Amino acid sequence: MARKIVITSGKGGVGKTTVCANLGTQLASGGAKVVMLDADVGLNNLDVLMGLENKVTYDIYDVIQGKCRIQQALIHDVNYPSLSVLPSLRGGSYSKIGAAEIRSVVDRLGKYDFVLIDCPAGIESGFHRAVSSASEALVVVNPTVSSLRDADKVITLLSTYNLSSINLVVNRVRGDMVIRGECMSPVDISRLLKTHIGGVIPESEYIAMSYGAKLLGSDEERYAFSLLADNVVNGRHRIYDYTAPYKGILGKLKLLRRRY
Ligand SMILES: Nc1ncnc2c1ncn2[C@@H]1O[C@H](COP(=O)(O)OP(=O)(O)O)[C@@H](O)[C@H]1O
Ligand SMILES: [Mg+2]
Repeated sequence: MARKIVITSGKGGVGKTTVCANLGTQLASGGAKVVMLDADVGLNNLDVLMGLENKVTYDIYDVIQGKCRIQQALIHDVNYPSLSVLPSLRGGSYSKIGAAEIRSVVDRLGKYDFVLIDCPAGIESGFHRAVSSASEALVVVNPTVSSLRDADKVITLLSTYNLSSINLVVNRVRGDMVIRGECMSPVDISRLLKTHIGGVIPESEYIAMSYGAKLLGSDEERYAFSLLADNVVNGRHRIYDYTAPYKGILGKLKLLRRRY
C-alpha cells in the first residue's frame, strides 16, 4: 500500500512544489518507488521544475477519461529511475475533475511506496480534491505572518479529514535572522500551530535557482531535504540545524555581514 502524502499550505508561493520535487528526489534516491501527482491544475509547475515538461504526452485527465493507461501517462526522470510524475491537466477546466476521480487514480498507484500530491494554493475545491485522496499531510509554511495565518486555517481544515498525520515543513528559514531574534524559530512556529515539525529547509539561493535534476546546489540543502525524507520514512521529527553556518569565528563574521 502506497503512503499518500499531500503537500499543502493554503498560501501560494511558499514552496509546496519545491518541497514535493525535492522530497520525491530524496525518497527515490533512497530506493523508494515514488509518484508525484501534480494537482495544481493549469499551473502544472511540477513537471517544469523537474525539467520534464517536454516529455508530457498524456495527463491525469486522459487517465480519468480512459484515453490511456496510468503507466503511459507517468513521466520518468532519467536521473531517478524510481521517480515519476503524473502531470496535471494541461489547459481546460479542472472543474471537470472531481475528488472521486482523483481518488480513483491515486488508488490505482498502490504498488508504489509513496504518492506525493502537490496541492494547489487556496482552500477551495482544488484543495479538497487534492486532500481527500491523501492519508497524510505536510503543511509547508514560511516564517511570515501571512503564511502562518494561512497554515493555521489549513491545519484546522485538515483536521476534518481522515488523515493519520499532519506535519509542518518550515521552509525559507533564515538562520541569521532567527539567531538575532528577528524572526520566529521553527520550534516557535510548531508551538504556535500546535503541529509537529516534519522538516526545516533553509532560505537558499541554490534552491531558488534550481531546475530539473540539478535541484540541489549544495550539501547543506541536500542534507536538509534528506532529514525531511528520513522524518517522513521513519515518523521522526528531527530538525535541520539552521544555525550551523553561523557557528565559530567564521560563522560569527558571516552573521555580522549578512544584514540585508
Ligand atoms: N528554501 C527556499 N529558498 C529560496 N527560494 C525558495 C525556497 N523554497 C522555494 N523557493 C522559491 O520560491 C518560489 C515559490 O516556490 P514554489 O515551490 O513554486 O511554491 P508553491 O508551490 O507553494 O507555489 C520559487 O521561485 C522557488 O524557487
Ligand atoms: Mg506549486
